[in-house]
Amino acid sequence: MTLFSPAISDRRTELQGAAQDPTPLPMKVAIIGAGRGGTALLDALHQIGTIGVVGIVDINPSAPGLRRAQELTVPIYDRVSNLLKNQQPSLVMDVTGDPTMESVLQKEVPPGTNIVNGQTSRLLWLLIQHETGLQAELLHAEKLAGIGSFAAGIAHDINNPLQLILGLAENLTEETDLDAVHLQARDIIEAVKRTTAICRDLTSYSRRTSLQQEGLISVNAKLDEALKIARYAVALQDIEIRKRYQPDMIAKGNPDQLLHVFVNLITNAVQAMEHQGILTLETTAVDEGTQIRVSDTGSGIAPELLNRIFDPFFTTKPPGKGTGLGLYNIKNVIHHMHGTITVESQVGRGSTFTLTFPGETSQSEGGSS
Ligand SMILES: Nc1ncnc2c1ncn2[C@@H]1O[C@H](COP(=O)(O)OP(=O)(O)O)[C@@H](O)[C@H]1O
Ligand SMILES: [Mg+2]
Repeated sequence: MTLFSPAISDRRTELQGAAQDPTPLPMKVAIIGAGRGGTALLDALHQIGTIGVVGIVDINPSAPGLRRAQELTVPIYDRVSNLLKNQQPSLVMDVTGDPTMESVLQKEVPPGTNIVNGQTSRLLWLLIQHETGLQAELLHAEKLAGIGSFAAGIAHDINNPLQLILGLAENLTEETDLDAVHLQARDIIEAVKRTTAICRDLTSYSRRTSLQQEGLISVNAKLDEALKIARYAVALQDIEIRKRYQPDMIAKGNPDQLLHVFVNLITNAVQAMEHQGILTLETTAVDEGTQIRVSDTGSGIAPELLNRIFDPFFTTKPPGKGTGLGLYNIKNVIHHMHGTITVESQVGRGSTFTLTFPGETSQSEGGSS
């Protein structure tokens, strides 16, 4: 069984590389300020293997970036001087927006250590926001590319009720018994409602996700919704689906993006099983928060490919079946939700993708999803 977690393994490879080559030591960055800017910077820099975030400081103990730092095991400080003394960063990034911080840093930061502040840190913040926008666009583009493959599934699902409607309507042209007419009319209404529901699900899935729309998501309901959507992308009729849901599981984030994550994981799992096998969807409360596992009994992933599957455009599928952007987008959404994703896989036996999201787990369902 090979285990893989994208962020951690990237880092390990980088550090090993650094040991052989004397020059590219990881850049040691300290972040001053753990508000929105500091959190975004921490998230962005943490994903880059050649950068080591050696510490973050904020006088406010409940600043959001400090919680994030704890999750990422980045050292937390309440005084700039302690951070500088203990970590000796090569670069100090001030994102406090506090004009007095400049003179504090000037005094405390030793010569030779670079400082990024003022307009420069604002520029960085703008670049990070821009990148977040690009990621959202990429996710949408990949989703639309996936919907292209839904055509056969949709045609099948809409054709069944249409055939039923046709048959009933043909009967009605000759039916004289009023009770039978009413009964058939009711069947027609039901069939139309079914097709309307399909159209509604797909229209809402294909719409652009609004980034503002964040809240508590009922994870079990989202997994069920994802199964409904995934049915259009992949044939599920010969797949045994096992659901092991712990009740009332929630995660905090954007419901549309989480739905897309689940659709992608389920689609990958079913594709790996070549449409035959067992798909297990599991949710559990763990110490860290909510855990979701999507397992398949499919082809598995070769150990040498495990650290590549999260790369953009990495795919082993023929054109039309895969874009190679699924797991890349998944990783971004999960990082944005402050969660983690790991994969365990055995060639020929199957794979399990495990998602962990922070937060309380036993709240009532419904949330904003
Ligand atoms: N459940 C799985 N079982 C086996 N291989 C998988 C699974 N999920 C992902 N992969 C591998 O990771 C690659 C990248 O996946 P993804 O980013 O979703 O792109 P795509 O599905 O478009 O190829 C896939 O091409 C496949 O080789
Ligand atoms: Mg995929």
